[in-house]
Amino acid sequence: MPSPKDIYVNCDELNNITKENKANWLKEIKQVAKEIKKNATVLQVGCMNGVRIIALLKERPDLQITGLDIEKEFLKMARKNFKKCQIKAKLIHGDITKSLKIKKFDYVICLNNTLGYIPEEERAIENMKNLGEKVIISVYGEKFTNELAKKYFQSINLELQKIKKNIFHTKEFVKVKRYTENEVKSWGGKVFKTPIGYFTIIRSRNEITFIDKVSENVQI
Ligand SMILES: C[S@@+](CC[C@H](N)C(=O)[O-])C[C@H]1O[C@@H](n2cnc3c(N)ncnc32)[C@H](O)[C@@H]1O
Repeated sequence: MPSPKDIYVNCDELNNITKENKANWLKEIKQVAKEIKKNATVLQVGCMNGVRIIALLKERPDLQITGLDIEKEFLKMARKNFKKCQIKAKLIHGDITKSLKIKKFDYVICLNNTLGYIPEEERAIENMKNLGEKVIISVYGEKFTNELAKKYFQSINLELQKIKKNIFHTKEFVKVKRYTENEVKSWGGKVFKTPIGYFTIIRSRNEITFIDKVSENVQI
């Protein structure tokens, strides 16, 4: 049985994955690079072996990026990759569904449908909102059709067994979710379409609390 490490690293093998997934991957990086303000601090949730951080820093060397991953082995790989590419980025070992005692960031980013691999999705979104002034999430949507999913999972060495309520069940241990536009809208952010999904920018709770207070005052 393959380990998460054996499977997830294939998600970033751009020459092996489908052209639709590759286009999505590249679009997300461009969009993140465009949206994030200068010199911002950024936490990437599910940073894996750091390839995303390296790609983002190539576009935006001004950013101060920290990667978070639940798998210690990935962080070791990321550290090696940063050294090889002479890139400076921090790494944190942790689970985004648990409360993390770390400093706050300007942005928390969670890309390439990483959220779809995290079963406790609501807690993950809640914690991302607690950790960042803005949260950027990119997920697969309806355009990640069953047919495309089958090809994509094959390319990352997963065998699709059944699809139930937008959850792809694989023969291995992984369950992966795709999202509807309404679901992504329900997270409360501005939503953009990507080649096979959605990219949303959500303001953190601090800003929403402030707006609530203002409206309470108006009512009084
Ligand atoms: C499918 S990979 C995403 C790959 C990569 N982020 C990308 O952009 O292509 C999912 C990553 O999220 C990590 N992960 C899964 N659950 C997590 C959690 N609860 N907290 C932090 N990281 C998690 C995995 O270890 C893995 O590195």
